[in-house]
Amino acid sequence: MGSRQDALLADAGLARGPDGDLLLEGVPLRTLAHHVGTPTYVYAAGRIAAQYRALDAALAGVPHTLCYAVKANSNLSVLRLLAGLGAGADIVSGGELERALAAGIPAGRIVFSGVGKSRQELRQAVLAGIGQVNVESIEELRLLGEVAGALGRRASVGLRVNPDVTAETHPYIATGTRGIKFGIPADQVLGACRLVAASPYLTLTGIAVHLGSQLLSVRPYLEALERLLGMLPAVQEASGGTVHAIGLGGGIGIRYTGDEPVVAPEAFAAAIVPAVRAAGMHLHLEPGRCLVGSAGVLLTEVLYRKHAGGRDFLIVDAGMNDLVRPSHYQAHHEIVPVARPRPETLVVDVVGPICETGDFLALERELPAVEAGELLAILGAGAYGFTMSSQYNTRGRAAEVLVTDGGWRVCRPRESAEEIMAPEQALLDDGVIAP
Ligand code: LLP
Repeated sequence: MGSRQDALLADAGLARGPDGDLLLEGVPLRTLAHHVGTPTYVYAAGRIAAQYRALDAALAGVPHTLCYAVKANSNLSVLRLLAGLGAGADIVSGGELERALAAGIPAGRIVFSGVGKSRQELRQAVLAGIGQVNVESIEELRLLGEVAGALGRRASVGLRVNPDVTAETHPYIATGTRGIKFGIPADQVLGACRLVAASPYLTLTGIAVHLGSQLLSVRPYLEALERLLGMLPAVQEASGGTVHAIGLGGGIGIRYTGDEPVVAPEAFAAAIVPAVRAAGMHLHLEPGRCLVGSAGVLLTEVLYRKHAGGRDFLIVDAGMNDLVRPSHYQAHHEIVPVARPRPETLVVDVVGPICETGDFLALERELPAVEAGELLAILGAGAYGFTMSSQYNTRGRAAEVLVTDGGWRVCRPRESAEEIMAPEQALLDDGVIAP
């Protein structure tokens, strides 16, 4: 238990200070809770940078672009940090395009993924001159050609191929198998290449896959790479030899329980780089979770303890609206007291204030005994935490804090009920809505 949790704490940039309190890269979490309140997401800039640099260095043997998957954590300060390290961006909406550009990520290093890009979003992407639009259907390809034509601009296209490769992960986040909505099926790929070649406004620059998220082995990557490289000669022939990039998606997993056999960047690179280099291709990766996931904690306060129906509950001030992963994917997030853990433990359900029985952060979890008013850190919350949060129950979204070089700053203030209501209130005040 100790060493498993120690590994998770180290992944997060957490250590216990002399008084036993948790410090994130030297900053006491208690200080942050005192100044900013709870629930609050706290991110360790040093850990994010270290993760980025490790992956970047491991891939040094092949020309590559790390297009950070903005959906994992789209806070502008996090994006700015990654932009400064040289990251590109993988985006899935016009909103994410605006975020990436606002953070200073060059348009040429942005790849646009997603099955349902609207005409407006395609237009936005073409006008911004992004690096590549990864199309996922023949119809999308036709629309992109039409949009680019109407603007009189050329667009670089990637084909996101469905490689029909299974990956062991939660079914909701496996994205590379046959019969799901993602990617162009293999038997439609050459037709798509010919369509691109026939368009005066489109150039095929890449072929790509995305296999899923939280993958804990390189096997699916190897299988998908083999399939992509297998189809490359025919793709080059059909498209006029313009393809220079291979995209292998994101998906590298992190430790949530401490027991997972995580794929190290070096192991990933050793498996992938030789074949990509031999093919003379530029490698695109779209890592999200592995760059930011472990580097974030959700700080929450115990509001009440309760014993009911033979169970013990810790009712905390963070709910499923703040962190939906436990209730949505039955995901495990390690929970540790901010103060030095007491030796006695309790088996508890850690639940939030939301009016749903499905509002939990952990079920039947053995935790050191804590009392109302004490602080807990929920680990592994840097990816798909804040970005999936909502205002359900008119709860303002949590504050976000970035810890950098032993200092910290709020990188998104807590939302107030007033801010949530403002657009509706304005309409009431205008008398647009009848009394
Ligand atoms: N590229 C594309 C096209 C994607 O769809 C995704 C994630 C990524 C990159 C980044 O994958 P990553 O490196 O983060 O695994 N909300 C879920 C995860 C959904 C991932 C969807 N696509 C969760 O909380 O586990």
